[in-house]
Formats: sequence, structure tokens, C-alpha cells
Amino acid sequence: MQLAGKTALITGGARGMGRVTALELARLGARVVIVDWEGEAGTRTRDEINRLTGRQAAEFVYCDLSSLAEVQALASHVQARYPALHILVCNAGITDPVRRLSADGWELHVATCHLAHFLLTHLLLDLLKKSAPARIVSISSDAHKAGPGLDFDDLNNEKIWKGSPFSNGASFAAYHRAKLCNVYFTLELAERLKGSGVTVNAVSPGYFVNTTIYRNLTGIVKWGSWFVFGIGSLLRLNTPEKGARTHIHVASSPDIDGVTGKYFAYCKEALPSPLALDPVIRKRIWAWTAQVTGVGE
Ligand SMILES: NC(=O)c1ccc[n+]([C@@H]2O[C@H](COP(=O)([O-])OP(=O)(O)OC[C@H]3O[C@@H](n4cnc5c(N)ncnc54)[C@H](OP(=O)(O)O)[C@@H]3O)[C@@H](O)[C@H]2O)c1
Repeated sequence: MQLAGKTALITGGARGMGRVTALELARLGARVVIVDWEGEAGTRTRDEINRLTGRQAAEFVYCDLSSLAEVQALASHVQARYPALHILVCNAGITDPVRRLSADGWELHVATCHLAHFLLTHLLLDLLKKSAPARIVSISSDAHKAGPGLDFDDLNNEKIWKGSPFSNGASFAAYHRAKLCNVYFTLELAERLKGSGVTVNAVSPGYFVNTTIYRNLTGIVKWGSWFVFGIGSLLRLNTPEKGARTHIHVASSPDIDGVTGKYFAYCKEALPSPLALDPVIRKRIWAWTAQVTGVGE
């Protein structure tokens, strides 16, 4: 029970790799806080974890992370209820070919994958520091490598959808940008947190992990991904359990005590895109995000 006495919060913990991560961290002894906007799946996962661990190891908290106000309410709940937080797994993510806006007017990929986790992490930083050694795990994707990088004239992803409110290509471009932001955030935050006892690392879970994240894709892309999922599932190559191994490793392994500012894939340190290593862009996107969220200046 390597994590006995530890508390972990997992966003997007109701389903997919977040669910597997919550279950495994609880099995290792942690108390887990599952955050998601899927109420039924969230309570099911909570009950499953409590049944399998034989203790009240899990709590489910409903939150639409794309809303900055709901993230603030979530942070207040966590601060009031938990005296310590040792592991924060920023896992929730989406892919959606329809351009949708959050309650604050931000396109949903940038709102959910980037702004929500930037804000949540900052609001919980004092608690994490007080609980040190503590870990922040930012779930990115190798999709951060598959594109041209950020467009500072289009941070709300309007241009990439221009002409069509429905596009798999635009969804992929928005996802690429959001996952690149996760790596910029990790590298910049790791520098800022040096000496605090709080580490922060980014994770790539692999490719086409068989979860429901791709369910909104359409046409040939949908059939193509189903084909890849089908083959992968037959061979048991891309299960959420396999995909979540790196989440769990980076969140809990004693092998990486003190390791910070790294990108992990397949449970090993890996190189992020050269784009992500540009400190000027990294600081520029940090400054923009701090302005939007009102934290991190
Ligand atoms: N699957 C892959 O192949 C793959 C590859 C590389 C990286 N990743 C990354 O790994 C992470 C986990 O992905 P997954 O495949 O396990 O996804 P998943 O099965 O879709 O699980 C993500 C969970 O987050 C929830 N969520 C989405 N938006 C939310 C919001 N605004 N507020 C609260 N909860 C929200 C989802 O609800 P809904 O289902 O209702 O949206 C879902 O329950 C993501 O960051 C993803 O980008 C996945």
C-alpha cells in the first residue's frame, strides 16, 4: 500500500484512462477524488472503487471543467474537504468535430484541456505545496507533435473551423494545440516550482487507446478509427488499462521521486516536440492563460 495516507484527484476520472488511474491509485492505498461531468459514470466508478478496495476510498465530484466558475467551486470544495493533496492528475480531455463554446465563450478543446487545468492547478497549488512531496501529472498526447503549433491570432480556434462548423480536421488541429499547451504548461510550471517539493510532468498515453473519446468523429475518420480500435482490441494492444500505465507510473512510482519537467511515454522519459521546447512561446502562452484565468501571473 505504497500510497496509504495519500490523496489523489483525477479529472475525467469517470471513464477511460482516468477511471483506470483512479482505480489503481486507490488499490495502491490512496484516497481518490474523481472529477467529471458524467454523473452516472462518475458515481458508478466511485462505487466500483469502494467495492473493490473494501473501503470508502473514492469520492465523486461533479464538475464541468470547461467552466472557470465551476473549476473555482471545485477547488473550494477540495480545499475545504481535504487537508492534503499529494497527486493531481489533469486527465480530462475531448475531441469534438463540432466547434462548441464553454460558458465563458472559449472553444471546448482549449477550455477543457488547457484553461481548466491551468486554473485548477493554480488554485490547488498551496494545498499541493503544503502536502509535499506532491506530484502534478498533465495528460498530453503525441498529437502535440502532429501540427504546426499555436496560432496566437487564433487561440480560440475560430479560423480553423472557418467555413465549416463541423470538421474532423479542425477538431484534430484544436486537439493538437491544446495538447501542446499541456506540455508548455508542464515545462514552465516545473521551472517555477523548483525547490517546492511539487513535481510536474507530462504524459503521452499512446495512440488510439480504446476509450469513448473519439466517439464524435465522423465519416471516413470514424470508420478508420473503429478499424484501428477493432484490430487493437482483438490484439489487446490499446486497452484503457494499457494506456493508463504511464499515468499511474508518473503519478505513483518511487522511481521518479523528484523528477520534474519531463515528458513520459510508455513509462519512460521521452522527447517532446521541439516546438514545445521554445521558451519564448512557452512564456507567451503562459502569460495569455494567466490573463484569461486570472491566476499564475
Ligand atoms: N484515447 C486516446 O487514444 C488518447 C491518446 C492520447 C492522449 N489521450 C488523452 O488522455 C486523456 C484521457 O483520455 P481518454 O481517452 O481516457 O478519454 P475519455 O474516455 O473520453 O475520458 C475522459 C473523461 O473526461 C470527461 N470530460 C470531458 N470534458 C469534460 C468536462 N468539461 N468536464 C468534466 N469532465 C469532462 C469525459 O466526459 P465525456 O465522455 O462526456 O466527454 C470523460 O468522462 C485525455 O486528456 C486525452 O486527450 C487519449
